[in-house]
Amino acid sequence: MTSHHDTPAWHLTGAGNMGTLAAFYLRAAGFPVALARGDGRRKTLTFEDGRAPRTLDIPAAPATPIRHLVVACKAPWSAAALEGLSLAPDVTVLRLQNGLGSLDGLLPAGADLIEVVTTSAVKGRHPEHRVVAENDTWMGRATAGPAPAWFPALAAAWPGLEWAAPIRPRQWRKLVANAVINPLTGLHDVPNGRLLDDPDLAARAARLADEADTLLRALDPAWPGDSRAQVAAVMRATAGNTSSMRADMQRGAVTEIEAINGWLLRQADALGLDLPAHRAIVAAVRARQP
Ligand SMILES: NC(=O)c1ccc[n+]([C@@H]2O[C@H](COP(=O)([O-])OP(=O)(O)OC[C@H]3O[C@@H](n4cnc5c(N)ncnc54)[C@H](OP(=O)(O)O)[C@@H]3O)[C@@H](O)[C@H]2O)c1
Repeated sequence: MTSHHDTPAWHLTGAGNMGTLAAFYLRAAGFPVALARGDGRRKTLTFEDGRAPRTLDIPAAPATPIRHLVVACKAPWSAAALEGLSLAPDVTVLRLQNGLGSLDGLLPAGADLIEVVTTSAVKGRHPEHRVVAENDTWMGRATAGPAPAWFPALAAAWPGLEWAAPIRPRQWRKLVANAVINPLTGLHDVPNGRLLDDPDLAARAARLADEADTLLRALDPAWPGDSRAQVAAVMRATAGNTSSMRADMQRGAVTEIEAINGWLLRQADALGLDLPAHRAIVAAVRARQP
């Protein structure tokens, strides 16, 4: 006999690329997965490594308060995605989104928020989703402490998944990489590696990295402040890639700038710090959005 704590029933909001990958691994771990709203959907998930494509049927949700929720919509749609959902007061939420703070004020006070940081990549469009890279994924709360009872089963099914609590160092690293690479590649419509090769873009990237370090050091004196080198390593490792913000801007879609550079600016404001390069690039991205 297993209790519901061992086999949580998950609801998914944002059944796009990342949400579909998460649903696939949750299902592989033996957990039921249903859509938080709307009709059931059939998905196809393909892999670059030669594994056979998988068909995944994600059914409509049973009408019960949600106790386990995956949020994998793009950050700007978070409020719309959560509106009207019946969340249990102690709902566990897996936030699978870039940026920070996109669920602030949207969850019950007793929610157990588990943040997900992933360097995996999935592309495509409903109903066909293509896993182009399976790298590392970390899950963890803001505070230190052990993983939930269901985590080992999920980690056994999800390649590269680790528990990391507190999650903040991983999140901040990923945030800085996104804050430097995404808006520059989006505005200039270039692949990530161009930020290493083009001297003007490289100088702008360095300024964004330095300003991020200034802020993060003000928030936490233990922050290593080596963002230039860390971000350059990401640019090298993903030189041929199109960032998600470049892809959003090419499609004329709203970007996640408010959850990425916007988060840095809100923190800086609260401390009375100015981040002129981030301020300017947020304004430039906003001016280009619908
Ligand atoms: N894809 C990746 O490789 C990757 C890697 C790292 C992090 N992430 C992060 O994961 C999150 C999801 O990205 P994704 O690539 O999976 O995006 P995606 O494929 O575009 O899927 C996002 C989903 O959001 C929902 N959505 C879109 N427009 C909406 C609207 N107007 N109102 C309400 N919901 C809307 C849709 O879900 P429904 O169809 O269910 O309505 C859509 O399928 C983002 O924060 C992204 O930065 C993605």
